[in-house]
Amino acid sequence: MSETIHPVTQAALAITRTTAEQYQAAHARSLADPDGFWRDQIGRLDWYRAPTVMGNWSWDPVDIKWFEDGVINASWNCLDRWAEADHTRTAIIWEADDPKAKTRRLSYAELRDEVTRMANALVALGVDKGDRVTIYMPMIPEAAMAMLACARIGAVHSVVFGGFSAESLAGRIEDAQSRFIITADEGRRGGKPIPLKAIADEACDKAEAAGVNVEAMLVIRHTGGAISMVEDRDHWWHEIRAEVPATCTPEPMNAEDPLFILYTSGSTGKPKGVLHSTAGYLLWANLTFETVFDYRAGEIFWCTADVGWVTGHSYIVYGPLSAGATVLMFEGVPSWPANDRFWQVIDKHKVNIFYTAPTALRAIMRDGDEPVNRHDLSSLRLLGTVGEPINPEAWNWYHRVVGKGQLPIVDTWWQTETGGALITPLPGATPLKAGSASWPFFGIEPALVEADGSLIAWTPGTEISGNLVLLRSWPGQARTVFGDHERFTQTYFTAYRGRYFTGDGARRDADGYWWITGRVDDVINVSGHRMGTAEVESALVAHPDVAEAAVVGFPHDIKGQGIYAYVTLNAGVEASDALAAALKATVRAEIGGIAVPDHIHLTPALPKTRSGKIMRRILRKIAENEFGALGDTSTLADPTVVDALIEGRLNR
Ligand code: WTA
Repeated sequence: MSETIHPVTQAALAITRTTAEQYQAAHARSLADPDGFWRDQIGRLDWYRAPTVMGNWSWDPVDIKWFEDGVINASWNCLDRWAEADHTRTAIIWEADDPKAKTRRLSYAELRDEVTRMANALVALGVDKGDRVTIYMPMIPEAAMAMLACARIGAVHSVVFGGFSAESLAGRIEDAQSRFIITADEGRRGGKPIPLKAIADEACDKAEAAGVNVEAMLVIRHTGGAISMVEDRDHWWHEIRAEVPATCTPEPMNAEDPLFILYTSGSTGKPKGVLHSTAGYLLWANLTFETVFDYRAGEIFWCTADVGWVTGHSYIVYGPLSAGATVLMFEGVPSWPANDRFWQVIDKHKVNIFYTAPTALRAIMRDGDEPVNRHDLSSLRLLGTVGEPINPEAWNWYHRVVGKGQLPIVDTWWQTETGGALITPLPGATPLKAGSASWPFFGIEPALVEADGSLIAWTPGTEISGNLVLLRSWPGQARTVFGDHERFTQTYFTAYRGRYFTGDGARRDADGYWWITGRVDDVINVSGHRMGTAEVESALVAHPDVAEAAVVGFPHDIKGQGIYAYVTLNAGVEASDALAAALKATVRAEIGGIAVPDHIHLTPALPKTRSGKIMRRILRKIAENEFGALGDTSTLADPTVVDALIEGRLNR
């Protein structure tokens, strides 16, 4: 791996508010005197009652609170305070999927007025404080409005990515016991319509069959595509909007009241509803946004994530808007109508800060430098990445071609559960290494442990690797899994008791830099999206011809990791390409397009131990084409299974 240090450039120095020494001093203080450190930060937000207690948490038993006697409203912080200070300041610039469509611009005042109306619409539909509202939306400003409208009245939003299937949506509605949905007629991506309302209808039927009745659906008219409305249940936003009052007093919320649930995949079972509370999350999103991206008033910040993922929550909605920033929101995809779309949009809107995923960069860089060089990118001053480890080739390309060798890249490591960035460079302060997320953010104390949980000591000049844990809480930490606190404890705090286990492996180099190497659990990171192998397996076995399935990740040039599924069929069923295609369709219907396996390997048998346990280690090696490194196969019930699998792999 490349360990060249990219020193802080003149371009970076010109923008920085922090030096390496200041960072180190502030980080040391944040650990030595957390109360003092956080007391200095609470003024970033407007409170109805400022907190007197900072962190008050335990990880054994798990009970996490920050700012617990504070009273606050997130939507006020993201809207009114900026609208009142500067009526014309732009909050959202919206770029449509279709490059010829008109750009929408919403000032903070306009956004506030839309949100207050939508909040009143929710109240009119019967939504109360604490109710869960499912949001299933395309990337349009109304998605952000829907989230903030919930926050305004103290409802808890659960945004479900618009690429998930009816089955997945239904599962999330059921788990959250959500009686309200906000959706749109259709979305648009890459020139194609996505029938969101029709999928939501199907999900409602499924949820109803499982005992959860959706009482009201608020529908935004976006494409104008034909949909059907269910009487008494479905309501057009533009119709209700005309009837409800234009103002809505924000609900004063306790700091620890829930702000949102976001479902995310883990190593076992169904996706978990990760729950974030109000003040700690908002402060973390705000502080990390301003410092990691060194945001300056008036600049245009573009995060290419979808609001259906945590990155969209923290760095399209809550971080930027709580900081009074101008965000670009993009409905489309990087490859349509051509693979220069990102650069065309940066040029068109004079974007200053650009934050994307390594997978997008790898897909784009295949076409060389010309599509980038065709556009004027001189407005850019800072680049970022998130979602998966960035390989040095992609980092160097991003740095050289997009950043013209000058712009810092912030490689931000974090998770749905962390609320915002935890290990990340600070632009200007951190000399960069291609592929390293570098240093811990304020208040963060990472460590590496052996499989048995023993801490691995690091001293300057030595290099260590192990499983990444965190030793203390931070305000943006998730508080629980919705409806299942025991699962929260089990998942994150039991492998290494009293410590938070991230599920990632990492190494720390001789200079103290942190390098995240990827998941060490049964989670696959496909194009920066988390997918649980167990989820894909249960989708596959839903097909009537499937006896058993075992899913593993394998290295993929563009996606980072691809999905490789080994499947055994029921007796008497013939393997065929048509069946493999049908299995892919099943996964698409059960979960969504992002979970569809790259390879379906139909096999007569899976390698199992004598006690019947599938040996995934062997399956991973075969998927990786590493036949020489299968390790000990002597414990297999039938070692010849392995030869058949290798033959099957070679014949692909
Ligand atoms: C991975 C996305 C390396 C990691 C914000 C983590 C990364 C999982 C990075 C969380 C990065 C995220 N470098 N790996 N900069 N950022 N990851 O919950 O494996 O969708 O555990 O949150 O993505 O994915 P999630």
